[in-house]
Amino acid sequence: MRTRQLQSLLRNTKRNLVEFKELGGYSEIYKYSIENNTEFWEKLARSRLDWKEDFTQVSNSCFKNGSISWFADGKLNVFDNCVTRHLPDRADQPALIYEKDEPGTEEFVSYAQLHSLVNRFANVLKSKGVKKGDRVAIYYPVSPLGVAAMLACAKIGAVHSVVFAGFSADALRQRIIDADCRVVICADGTYRGGRYINLKSVVDQAIENLDLVETVLVGTRNPEAQKLTTGKDVDLDQALESASDNCESEPMNAEDPLFLLYTSGSTGKPKGLVHSQAGYLLYAAVTTSAVFDCQPGDRFGCVADIGWITGHTYTVYGPLVNGAVSLLFESVPSYPDPGRYWATVEKYNLTQFYGAPTAYRSLLRHSNEFIEKYDRSSLKRIGSVGEPINTEAWEWLHHTVGSSKVRIADTWWQTETGGNMITPVPCDEGAAFKPGSAQRPFYGIEPVLKSADGKTVEGNSVDGALCIAKPWPGIARTIHGDHERFRNVYLNVFDDVYTTGDGAHRDVDGEYTITGRMDDVINVSGHRLGTAEVEDCLAQLEFISEAAVVGIPEETKGEVPYAFIILKEGVIDSSEHKLLASQHVAKVIAKFAVPQDTIIVDGLPKTRSGKIMRRILRKLAASSVQTFAEIAPELGDISTLAEPEVVEEIFLKKCQS
Ligand code: WTA
Repeated sequence: MRTRQLQSLLRNTKRNLVEFKELGGYSEIYKYSIENNTEFWEKLARSRLDWKEDFTQVSNSCFKNGSISWFADGKLNVFDNCVTRHLPDRADQPALIYEKDEPGTEEFVSYAQLHSLVNRFANVLKSKGVKKGDRVAIYYPVSPLGVAAMLACAKIGAVHSVVFAGFSADALRQRIIDADCRVVICADGTYRGGRYINLKSVVDQAIENLDLVETVLVGTRNPEAQKLTTGKDVDLDQALESASDNCESEPMNAEDPLFLLYTSGSTGKPKGLVHSQAGYLLYAAVTTSAVFDCQPGDRFGCVADIGWITGHTYTVYGPLVNGAVSLLFESVPSYPDPGRYWATVEKYNLTQFYGAPTAYRSLLRHSNEFIEKYDRSSLKRIGSVGEPINTEAWEWLHHTVGSSKVRIADTWWQTETGGNMITPVPCDEGAAFKPGSAQRPFYGIEPVLKSADGKTVEGNSVDGALCIAKPWPGIARTIHGDHERFRNVYLNVFDDVYTTGDGAHRDVDGEYTITGRMDDVINVSGHRLGTAEVEDCLAQLEFISEAAVVGIPEETKGEVPYAFIILKEGVIDSSEHKLLASQHVAKVIAKFAVPQDTIIVDGLPKTRSGKIMRRILRKLAASSVQTFAEIAPELGDISTLAEPEVVEEIFLKKCQS
């Protein structure tokens, strides 16, 4: 048994990209991918994707001009690449395993069934007037119908905008308006940890008096639920039943948009990042196969929600384009007990498991019994994404869950990058693994570090702003409706590179460790959140005159927001205001955005030019000391502030609260 596992481990390390097997291991292929960048991607685009019309141009991209384009004159259909082309070999193989909240109630959807479902779905969309290029909002939990909704859009060339089904009605409304969606697709609700969550009522609120939305297609999760509540509602299940399963796929230009996905930035409203058809799909295909060693027929368990980029790339597009079986996990890691993930691995012989450090951290506190009673020997990769993984969680994944045999793919990437960018696998045989470090760039990805003055930081054992030098197929093309913002935020920060917003350390071996965001974006349980969004939301309240929000470390969630508010003159300081503030954030953004604590203060530490010194607030918020004298040395020089005395006042207020 042991020999078999070791042999398979060895085989897996060797299996990089078959297209370049004559080059050998990771180092050689990587070198080739940088030096012959367009040839590298051209070869993969031809071997990994089916084209309806071949392309003659590979890349026409220039960060300086703000233009990125790959395989521009080629035509293809993403749905056909993900489903139709697998039918000859795997029509009866499951494409999706729907692991519903209640253990033992799973459903399987074969490739043939998914094909038929998406065709019918596409016809339903067409019957509601949806055409190529139209944006469609999807407020659906992880489920076959949620996935089919995305694929149906891809089939007819509509642009999906999945909104995480944990976002509030206001947040959903804002996204529907920004993307100009006339059709919304949703479920009546979802179950999480035994609890039913009504999603339809959120949609009803979101579109109240919104003439823009003409149709809401409502799918059934709970047959008892009252799902049709407004004149715009259409019973999705009934419509699917009566629709024809004959539908032509739209040949799409490589650079047509495939989807929008909203994400938070350090300032302003969430941005609708636009991903392309061919470049995005190629990058999803290649990273899924090379990082996770995903082979046709593999059972790929990415537990991310389809409302986030990880769900798009590694629950939907990546596994399907590779002909794998994708797990759709509706539940939570702790239901009915903390063994749920590993029970699921055993039940379906999952070959890959991909989750978030926040969930891993919450599980490692429980007894190993919850892991050991399940057979995990089918796993060949365990992935981690969304935030840095601490050494303890890494060791636990590798040794306890992975029996010291499974490779851990700590994958650093972003909504904007489309797929994994820096990750320890693939690698050469014998390469060292460093817990907590993302380590090596993926093929074709050239990281550079920049200093604050825009100079490239050379050499090893150095820190800098993490940037990427060369365009790659998976990068987002623009921000919906605001290309200038896209250029300013990502392409014009430093000359001729994509700026990620993260900082990184390049170690003695030339490998990368992500040091965290350099802007005011925080990561709450892997959910990306701009502190400015929470500040804007708090400032809407009539009793608040000013708000400052910072992120502080938290053991399980990674980071949590923490707020300081100044009340308007004449408003009496009371704990009710804190409660109202929390409720408002949950209503306008989402529950995960609610500050862990809100401190009512009289002033904020500002520079003489009026800039809030968040560094100081972060220190104050995270401290657990009892006297100001203890924290003062950590705060640095505060004498240059406009009103240095507010710092101690804030400290005292925090101690009293
Ligand atoms: C952070 C999620 C450290 C990072 C795919 C990035 C990480 C942001 C890692 C993107 C990792 C993601 N190690 N930090 N392995 N993965 N991040 O857009 O700050 O939701 O910029 O994409 O998460 O979050 P997003």
